Amino acid sequence: MTAGIFADAASRLIDQEDPFEVFADWFALACEREPSDPNAMALATVDAEGRPSLRTVLMKGHDRSGFVFYTNCHSRKGRELADNRNVALLFHWKSLRRQIRIEGSVHPVEGETADRYFHSRPRDSQIGAVVSRQSDELSSRATLFDEFAAARDRFEGEVVPRPAHWSGYRVEATAIEAWLDRPHRLHERKLFAFQDGVWRSTWLYP
Ligand SMILES: Cc1cc2nc3c(=O)[nH]c(=O)nc-3n(C[C@H](O)[C@H](O)[C@H](O)COP(=O)(O)O)c2cc1C
Repeated sequence: MTAGIFADAASRLIDQEDPFEVFADWFALACEREPSDPNAMALATVDAEGRPSLRTVLMKGHDRSGFVFYTNCHSRKGRELADNRNVALLFHWKSLRRQIRIEGSVHPVEGETADRYFHSRPRDSQIGAVVSRQSDELSSRATLFDEFAAARDRFEGEVVPRPAHWSGYRVEATAIEAWLDRPHRLHERKLFAFQDGVWRSTWLYP
């Protein structure tokens, strides 16, 4: 009887053995179904005293070598990453009722890769990146707009150079956990951990 009630719930849906396949499948689904920013992920860093901080960034590339995002390297996160490369990422696709947690370490992307991405952005976003001293105190929004307007004039008719402190990081994963909502709160959690050069998976209690 019980088996009958739970027969469907007991089945396993996360059948892939490769965490990058799970990520690619779920991200593709999120791109179809998530109403905004399916590539938004929470990025956790820690400061020199081990105090954590968290913010959203957009993932701009992913493959087996890592998950890429771009930012200002002088920002709070940039400073924390310079001290400690260990990070955690979180994707929560609410409409899919799925979550992926990633742990690993960051590595700067190559300058050419950052240049290519920087110049693929709308010109005003490039100028915005040039003028934003991200996470520093700002006296007024008028100051920001004045600086933006001045930079627009300065670069008139020229290619906007990527600031050296604006670049990308690749998060090389050592652990990836996929969480899938299932009936009766008996959710599926599959943890993939990279050990001794291979990815191994285990199931976790929900
Ligand atoms: C949906 C969304 C996407 C964002 N994407 C980025 C991003 O790709 N890069 C970035 O530097 N900040 C991004 N931000 C802003 C960050 O969340 C954060 O405010 C900023 O990077 C400063 O963080 P920090 O002071 O911890 O360095 C985004 C915010 C939101 C809400």
